Amino acid sequence: MYLCTCASDCVSISPMSKAARATDVQAELAQVAREAKSAQDLMSRAVKLLHQRMLKYNWVGFYMLEPGQPPMLVLGEFQGAMTPHTRIPLHQGICGAAASTGTTVVVDDVSLDPRYLACSLETKSEIVVPVFVGGKVVGELDIDSHFPAAFKDEDRALVEYCAGLVGASLEKSSK
Ligand code: SME
Repeated sequence: MYLCTCASDCVSISPMSKAARATDVQAELAQVAREAKSAQDLMSRAVKLLHQRMLKYNWVGFYMLEPGQPPMLVLGEFQGAMTPHTRIPLHQGICGAAASTGTTVVVDDVSLDPRYLACSLETKSEIVVPVFVGGKVVGELDIDSHFPAAFKDEDRALVEYCAGLVGASLEKSSK
């Protein structure tokens, strides 16, 4: 919250704008990435930070790609209610779509997307951002919101930034 300083007798308090919050959280993520002991530690701390600080991020979790026949997205670090979707094949869900195409997928109204795998009846919108190592998808960061169209440009930038930090950390630890 910011105390308004527009006039000496003004005592109104305005909520921090979402864009300002996203910028702050991006800086906090950068600090967490500097302090993290491992990529796993970074993922664990990043999901907690995003869940706590971004008020409309109601479920935040990583799925990591398990190679094999067929390859599977396997639930990793997460914050929020337990999901029935702990293993997702690449041809299923918004998660499968993001991993198989290597692109960010934003869904403003999950009820209108036939790919959507329901995790909670309260979920209204979702963003899934791939994590890359050496140009290849190795996992993804999935965020659900109880609010429709919760993921705007500043959210996409923030979530892609976080996925980029995790990719860089995984890349460093694989060398
Ligand atoms: N909704 C996702 C499944 C994962 S849960 O949201 C945690 C999907 O459609 O792939």
